[in-house]
Amino acid sequence: MSERLYEKWFLGDSNQSLEQYYDFMNQAAETLETYFATGKSSFSGNTPSQVRAQLMTNFIDMGPEKGQNTETLFKHIGESILQNAVHVHHPACVAHLQCPPLIPAMAAEVLIAGMNQSLDSWDQSGAATIVEQEVVSWLCDLYQLPNGDGVFTTGGTQSNYMGLLLAREHISERLWNWNPRQKGMHPESHRLRILCSEEAHFTVQQSAAFLGLGEQSVVSISTDENYRLSITELEQKLDGLFQKDMLPFALFATAGTTDFGSIDPLPQMAELAHEYGLWFHVDAAYGGAVQLSEMYKGKIDGIQEADSITIDFHKQFYQPISSGVFLLKDQKNFQHLKLNADYLNPEEDEAEGIPNLVGKSVQTTRRFDALKLFLSLQSLGVNRLGSMVDTTIDLARQVAQLLVEDPYIQIEHEPELNAIVFRFSHAQVDDKGIDEINMKIHDELLRTGKAVIARTKVNGKAYLKLTLLNPNTTIDDIETLLQELKCIAFNLLEQQEGLLV
Ligand SMILES: Cc1ncc(COP(=O)(O)O)c(C=O)c1O
Repeated sequence: MSERLYEKWFLGDSNQSLEQYYDFMNQAAETLETYFATGKSSFSGNTPSQVRAQLMTNFIDMGPEKGQNTETLFKHIGESILQNAVHVHHPACVAHLQCPPLIPAMAAEVLIAGMNQSLDSWDQSGAATIVEQEVVSWLCDLYQLPNGDGVFTTGGTQSNYMGLLLAREHISERLWNWNPRQKGMHPESHRLRILCSEEAHFTVQQSAAFLGLGEQSVVSISTDENYRLSITELEQKLDGLFQKDMLPFALFATAGTTDFGSIDPLPQMAELAHEYGLWFHVDAAYGGAVQLSEMYKGKIDGIQEADSITIDFHKQFYQPISSGVFLLKDQKNFQHLKLNADYLNPEEDEAEGIPNLVGKSVQTTRRFDALKLFLSLQSLGVNRLGSMVDTTIDLARQVAQLLVEDPYIQIEHEPELNAIVFRFSHAQVDDKGIDEINMKIHDELLRTGKAVIARTKVNGKAYLKLTLLNPNTTIDDIETLLQELKCIAFNLLEQQEGLLV
């Protein structure tokens, strides 16, 4: 009888396979527990060269000729990789739109990797296709899109790209009966314009560039004091563009801007989009999760009017990276992406009603990420997820109050979601000095591992940012962080007398 030489390395029912499987799985779970479970700082504080040196000490050769002993391997992975990772579960890890993942979703990742289904065709996925379709259908109900449809994506970048891609196809067909996929760009397409606020994510410009429209096609609209798109300026710019013989075709709203979490005035924008015949896309990569909250879902009212929507699950749906969805109000618009490949989804299969999702995506091989959200929803229930969102928004309000009352803090806006932009300030330090202190606060918190917070610029000045996605972060955690932050600032003032004017 012929022998299976590699049984031990793949999942099967032999003893050696199962032994190996549990050995790796248990060691992975234990390593994660050791370095990520409790009480550790939010970052090791090691510099890039220190991290590289530690990695190289443990892994002298990146492609060893022979494999290593598993126990040693996991010990070294723990010491040099997990030890130097950003600890997203830590309550003081509050920098970016990067969440602690839910335990059920982590377990789903194990299933996803083990099953290794690909969502492009039925014969690579079976039940996975049906699960994704059902989760998408639930999402269409959640966002009130009765004729909607959607597809899982790698995140906001891909979903925003898809929104603008379909907008381009849609307008080209309507204006010129032209299909850019087949014929390339229409000679008049240099007149096409996309409108968004100046706080919109950079993927608007990036998508415009990828779509052959050029960054020049993006018209930025200024924002109000809370960083929401100004409707007055939008109207003026639209009129101006038509007068200059330009062709505005897409209105891009943001429900939760990356820095401030501001939500553009969706109902008024939807109305204008309708009036001017524009494709209305809502980037709710960040703010989409408020729809889970009974208390706060009104904040994104108007999203149901969007032609297309971006939602990220790896932000406030607490899913491991990567996971997002692209939703369409009218499922017919997926026709612009439709394709049939003989080896994947021949037309005969479609005629027989065999589902395939490749014709809705810009990816071919695609992960079964829907299982993560499915398992999370089934184990927590929507209400618990919604109350996590509530907790973080309530915390942000409390923190904002603390900051407003602090004489050494200047808060830049009233938080809409759970991002807060602020800076340390001092009457006797000029703007340049304040910039320097705030940058150093960020660096020092990271170096000591006391907290991971973000920095950004507002009108050219240095600011700090807390993104309070973690529902386990408490007001006490933030009070400690703020004390630490001011302590760093006052130490700097003491050490560098030149900062005081
Ligand atoms: C508002 C917004 N849109 C889009 C994106 C891009 O999403 P992703 O990083 O998931 O591709 C981000 C990223 O943070 C974002 O904040």
